[in-house]
Amino acid sequence: MNDAQVRELQSLHPELASLFFQGAGAVSDAADEAALEEVRVRFLGRKSALTQILRAIPSLSPEQRPVVGRLGNLVRAELERLVEARRAELRRASLSERLAGERVDVTLPGEPFPLGHQHLISQTIEEVEDIFIGLGYRVAEGPEVETDYYNFTALNTPDDHPARSLHDTFWIDTASLRWRAAQDVSGAAEAAAGGVAKTAAGGAAKTAAGDAAEVHEVLLRTHTSPVQIRTMESQSPPVYVICPGKAYRRDSDATHTPMFHQVEGLVVDEGITLADLKGTLHYFVREFFGRERAMRLRPHYFPFTEPSVEVDIECLLCGGEGCRSCKYSGWLEILGAGMVDPNLYGFVGYDPDNVQGFAFGMGVERMAMLKHGVPDLRAFYDNDVRFLEQF
Ligand code: PHE
Repeated sequence: MNDAQVRELQSLHPELASLFFQGAGAVSDAADEAALEEVRVRFLGRKSALTQILRAIPSLSPEQRPVVGRLGNLVRAELERLVEARRAELRRASLSERLAGERVDVTLPGEPFPLGHQHLISQTIEEVEDIFIGLGYRVAEGPEVETDYYNFTALNTPDDHPARSLHDTFWIDTASLRWRAAQDVSGAAEAAAGGVAKTAAGGAAKTAAGDAAEVHEVLLRTHTSPVQIRTMESQSPPVYVICPGKAYRRDSDATHTPMFHQVEGLVVDEGITLADLKGTLHYFVREFFGRERAMRLRPHYFPFTEPSVEVDIECLLCGGEGCRSCKYSGWLEILGAGMVDPNLYGFVGYDPDNVQGFAFGMGVERMAMLKHGVPDLRAFYDNDVRFLEQF
């Protein structure tokens, strides 16, 4: 409403003018939408003074009617406009109030998300791999479900060999391997290790399973040494490989779990001697356990190496003085090794007159226990994060 309209209203209809001022004041005083609605009903509703004035128009004199009608409608339109403007204003205010209350400070640090890391056994395997890769070795792998041939026979351990009884072996019930008929036995072991069970058809399966039930043919490998044979079968010399992986034996106590890890090493080349074995292992021991670590070879026996040795390092706890953990000898055994028995070359088609080699096999859990002072090997597989987080 402009000034001229206000003056006209005041002079022609003081009652409407004061209604207008009261209404406009009440609208701008309304603190929220509910209060505003009350004001609207009070000044514009059916029972409001304004509505009454407009209803009474027909009873006015003919000259009065158009004047009151025009002014009354003007007041009503003005008040309605003010109410809508105020309503929009209140809505904006409550929205920005809500936004301010819900505001998120995106610069605050978030909830820390626990990040895992490699298991100590995997870390240890990678550490060993790195040392040998640095010497030019390649990493080779083989199946965990193996055949008797690769685990024992081709490693110079025939059926009746007493050394077989040193390995408490998990045999696989070959009758349950229905798919093996379509494969030769070594192919079957590879398929199983790859997690692929193939279903073969028909009677052939039955016959083969029946035959196999008579003899033990498939097993969980008791060591990683079968990878020696598989590697030599697949390539000619020179061979420089290490073979990390799982092995299985029917043992369970503070220093043995039924599943454990080994890293096998195999070198076959011309003119390899025991001095190469000793130099290689000593380099490895110093890299893995520290520069000052003394090492010794002790005569031992393995069917697939000749001569065979066990390798000890100076006790990590007492430094060779003698203590409980080295049984007062000053030495800790870390691995088995030896010169590849030339009989193995016959199984893989190498010429024993032209090549020589050495092999070694170390227990990964044992290496990790010694290096990090872990008292019980089973802690590796309890999966207690308070233990695992320390490494
Ligand atoms: N395979 C042997 C074992 O598990 C260790 C070994 C590997 C010994 C290679 C000599 C050469 O006990």
